[in-house]
Amino acid sequence: MKDQTLFPLYNKRGLPETPQRLSQKSDDTPQPTHARRIYIETYGCQMNVSDSELMAGILTQNGHQTVTHIDDADVVLVNTCAIRENAETKVINRIKHLNHRKRRQPELIIGICGCMAQHLRDRLLDAAPYVDLVMGPDAYRNLPVALDSLTGGVEAYVSPKDRDPFLGLRLDRTEDYADIAPIRKDGIRAWLTIQRGCDKMCTFCIVPFVRGRERSLPLKLLVADVEKLVDQGFKEVVLLGQTVNSYHDNHSDFGDLLFAVGEVNGLERVRFTSPHPADATERMIDAMASSPTVCKHLHLPLQSGSTAVLERMRRTYTAEEYRTLVAKLRERIPNIALSTDIIVGFSGETDDEFRQTYQMMADIRYDSAFMFKYSEREGTLAHKALPDDVPETVKGQRLKQIIELQERISADINTDAVGDTVAVLVEGESRRDADRYHGKTDGFKTTVFPKANSRIGEVVNVRVDNTTAHTLIGQIV
Ligand code: SAH
Ligand code: F3S
Repeated sequence: MKDQTLFPLYNKRGLPETPQRLSQKSDDTPQPTHARRIYIETYGCQMNVSDSELMAGILTQNGHQTVTHIDDADVVLVNTCAIRENAETKVINRIKHLNHRKRRQPELIIGICGCMAQHLRDRLLDAAPYVDLVMGPDAYRNLPVALDSLTGGVEAYVSPKDRDPFLGLRLDRTEDYADIAPIRKDGIRAWLTIQRGCDKMCTFCIVPFVRGRERSLPLKLLVADVEKLVDQGFKEVVLLGQTVNSYHDNHSDFGDLLFAVGEVNGLERVRFTSPHPADATERMIDAMASSPTVCKHLHLPLQSGSTAVLERMRRTYTAEEYRTLVAKLRERIPNIALSTDIIVGFSGETDDEFRQTYQMMADIRYDSAFMFKYSEREGTLAHKALPDDVPETVKGQRLKQIIELQERISADINTDAVGDTVAVLVEGESRRDADRYHGKTDGFKTTVFPKANSRIGEVVNVRVDNTTAHTLIGQIV
């Protein structure tokens, strides 16, 4: 009975020819068996933020309600990250804390979702037996069924002490949630997942194991999504994927998608994250160079400046190839803003190999960088075959060196912008000063300026008067 009422709505195979998201409740929407109030807490990357919006969509379509305060909730779902050990440690501490809450509120359902759930699987239940639900990124369709099975739904009441934990850990290479309309907070910037999973298999990375094989959503559906987002008032869309530029829907590639989205009427800006250097095609560069809507900002993860390390990481490009790509990007798109990800202390990284990373950062002069110490992840190729042999203190020293270097470069680049006029999409009131707005430049620099007569959602020209390492400060001109 449960299956019959729930599955028609979620039957992927029943999709219409041109897929559409179910954005409205239809008459066949199953009545809530037992409506729950759900608080979703998100850790990790933008993909997780986007997945939480998807979870909210699935739950709401099924008659449940999401709440913005944990005190109002009878279900807490923690959407987790597994990328580095400290991401998991943070969540473990958070779950322990939630258990205190559960002592006061025994009916509370605690669910662990996302990458860490997929990574640790039922071992999570050994560490935290009070967890009721463990669900990986491809199983969110089962959330309503899971909640019913934990509580008994309408059929019977299940007391907390009789609950059997629900595990949803199957990775499904066909799951793209194409029929689910995510529920987003109102705002200026919307995140749109265009691709799930990753096929690259970098040796250090857990993502392919917890998010499964790569799959892309159809271009037509995505363009229709962007049109709807514009109708809802969003001005900027960020296309998301683990290797976003390897997007392919059997007919169109990432360049095609960028051009198509760039042409959507009323959209101010489109960005994307994160591309893989090996998939940076001419057509992608063409779209960035020629479409006025496509932002001239590229987050291009380097990881290491040493070809030998890149080989051990299986990044599939050499340091030279990466430099050539950057030179080409700068030639085709003058003033392009570049950012990157760097890992220090990967297996076997020598002083000399580290120096090559340092030198490459000094030469390329990124606008900003996310920098990490290598964190060995159980289940990855490196965990099986390459020792985590750079001492923690050495990793720490190397990280400190590149952070200092990058801070200087970012500050210098910002100082050079003094006197320039930059186009800023106004996002909201500055947290520190109610008389000022903040927004981003095309190159993704945070800019703060007095409101004058500007409005949220508008693009204004700001003359830069002053800067810090991370912010431009100016006046509307
Ligand atoms: N392609 C994805 C990568 C996600 S992980 C994207 O760009 O969205 C984000 C970054 O985390 C990676 O680029 C890498 O720099 C870092 N990272 C991944 N695994 C790591 C590990 N085991 N230790 C340290 N940093 C890691
Ligand atoms: Fe991870 Fe490499 Fe894919 S960093 S997400 S395996 S491109």
